[in-house]
Amino acid sequence: MTATELVKNIARKSHELDPCTRSNYSSFNVNHTELKLSVDFSKKKIDGVVKYDLTNKSTASATDEVVLDTRDLTIKSVKVNGAEVNSYELSSAVPIYGSALHIPLAVNDAKVNTTKKLDVEIEFETTEKCTAIQFIEGDTGPYVFSQCQAIHARSLFPCFDTPAVKSPYKFIGISSSKVTMSGLPQPDNGTTDKYVFSQPIPIPSYLVSITSGNLAKAAIGPRSDVYSEEPNLAACQWEFEKDMENYLQIAESLVFDYEWERFDSLVLPSSFPYGGMEIPNMTQLTPTLICGDRTQTKVMAHELAHSWSGNLVTNCSWEHFWLNEGWTVYLERRIVGAIAQREASASGKSAEEAEKYGEQMRHFNLIGGWNALVETCETFDPKFTKLVWDLENGDPDDAFSRIPYEKGSFFLFKLENKLGGKKEFDPFVKFYFSKFRYKSLNSAEFVETLYEFYEPRGKKEILDSINWERELFESGLPDKPELDTTLADEVYAYGDKWAEYFEAGDFQSVPFNETDIDSFEGEQNMLLLEYLADKFKAIAGDASVSPEIIKQFPKVYPKFANSKNGEIVSAWNNLLLSYGQYKSEDAVVQEYAEWLGHTGRMKYARPGYKLLKNGISRDFAIEVFTKYKQFYHPICRTMIEKDLDLA
Ligand code: BES
Ligand code: ZN
Repeated sequence: MTATELVKNIARKSHELDPCTRSNYSSFNVNHTELKLSVDFSKKKIDGVVKYDLTNKSTASATDEVVLDTRDLTIKSVKVNGAEVNSYELSSAVPIYGSALHIPLAVNDAKVNTTKKLDVEIEFETTEKCTAIQFIEGDTGPYVFSQCQAIHARSLFPCFDTPAVKSPYKFIGISSSKVTMSGLPQPDNGTTDKYVFSQPIPIPSYLVSITSGNLAKAAIGPRSDVYSEEPNLAACQWEFEKDMENYLQIAESLVFDYEWERFDSLVLPSSFPYGGMEIPNMTQLTPTLICGDRTQTKVMAHELAHSWSGNLVTNCSWEHFWLNEGWTVYLERRIVGAIAQREASASGKSAEEAEKYGEQMRHFNLIGGWNALVETCETFDPKFTKLVWDLENGDPDDAFSRIPYEKGSFFLFKLENKLGGKKEFDPFVKFYFSKFRYKSLNSAEFVETLYEFYEPRGKKEILDSINWERELFESGLPDKPELDTTLADEVYAYGDKWAEYFEAGDFQSVPFNETDIDSFEGEQNMLLLEYLADKFKAIAGDASVSPEIIKQFPKVYPKFANSKNGEIVSAWNNLLLSYGQYKSEDAVVQEYAEWLGHTGRMKYARPGYKLLKNGISRDFAIEVFTKYKQFYHPICRTMIEKDLDLA
């Protein structure tokens, strides 16, 4: 088969157009968008005006309407080329996708139909059903933030809500509190209640964002500030100032120069549902990263990597989400490895040894990723353990899991190895990101680009040996990669001792102590807790994990019991509640439930409620959720309701 035929076959296996939008986006080019959002804290809503500068793409029979996505939005007025259009229509609401806004182009002004250039202006306001924004009482005053990925932008403003469409933006935010949006702040910002931002690089709707609150900022690098409410600012600054600029420089050497000028970030209140979100010029971060030990900064490396993978080069629909996240995890781990290498060489290791250590660190992270991939493949809906999804009538939030991250990055890791290692793969990384910058692409175009790059370099056979069908379209685990376990072996050896102890069944004394693991670094502790969970699960037959011994764990490992690090808190309680036979009234359970009630990051909250359900009881999980329900972001609330079968 020629590469062209292969690519055609791959392309045929997924939708040509994005199935998650009802807009007629393929008929238009968006030349520029101006979006004005006015925050009304007292009514908890946002009023807005959006102005699209469009070109009708079709020449012969010009499209006679503009169709935009909306969901739970109130439309107040529509103008086309300056003239009011009263005959617009909102189609009846479809769950998840919302109501398409149909704007006729020929009714009031016959000329419109024949002009290729169109100015469309819409006035609107959000309703309380808006899933993109959350109004909260911040620690220092009223606060609002948005989160549009994947298809929530349509509940904030009428738009072509597909990552296939990109536009440069002018943003205007009006609020009584400081505003940040997805662009560079313009001079005079904040002298009145008006804040203006420019985003000259074309971006998709899901990267549109607004935050308003009592925000302060501090420098964490020569081109980076961190924003948060004043009381947490110094802690946020400390957490990131050591790594920020190093991350930027390493990422630039892996791909190419950072194009967005500044990389600022914003630490949100604790109901923020994600670890991070790659808003251009204003990455959003969960406050769970601020744990005082800099162990979670790799989330910053991840969001930074999106400046290339995702924000410059974008998946053309959510069916190809792995192109965003798989590439980003791939780059994130390259950055983490390179940092370890730098630190090793600064501490006096030879260049060769330092490089080796960097790879060991990268592989240590790959091992964690592989474990997550195995666990997700075992537990998640098989139709979403494929690399490329079918989202016809589907909700991308339901498809979301570690799969696009891990299966995607392991796919790239496999390609790297097959094609001759980092030296041979790095030029492709640069080629790919240069080719698609400012564009959106699908998985077939990715494969096409591999052939385009490697065929002239005599590597067509290597690519031909890859089973693309299996890699891209089949559920479940890919082949297990060979990983360097140097940094994990110590952890495994120690974890094995616990398994042997339970298998021996003599529980007279507990021959373990926190000092056993004094030498473990941040991530090794995490791996230990995960490894113990795996080992305990595997213990079967006559042997058993004694709940009495598990109940002594907090005394054996006070550093875990007292940890403020969300990764540890989650993995630790998973062990205790799964194997300790605790009752809902036990202090361990009460403390964990209270922590869950203030932790809106879905990575912790969703497994947390499942743990309460499976480890204590469904009734107890529901009781805790009901108590804290109002705290959670609408996206997180919906997902927990689904997880607890309340939906
Ligand atoms: N873009 C994602 C977050 C996201 C994905 C929001 C899908 C909404 C829908 C972000 O870059 C991300 O992947 N965050 C991770 C960070 C982790 C992989 C380091 C998270 O939130 O945990
Ligand atoms: Zn990401």
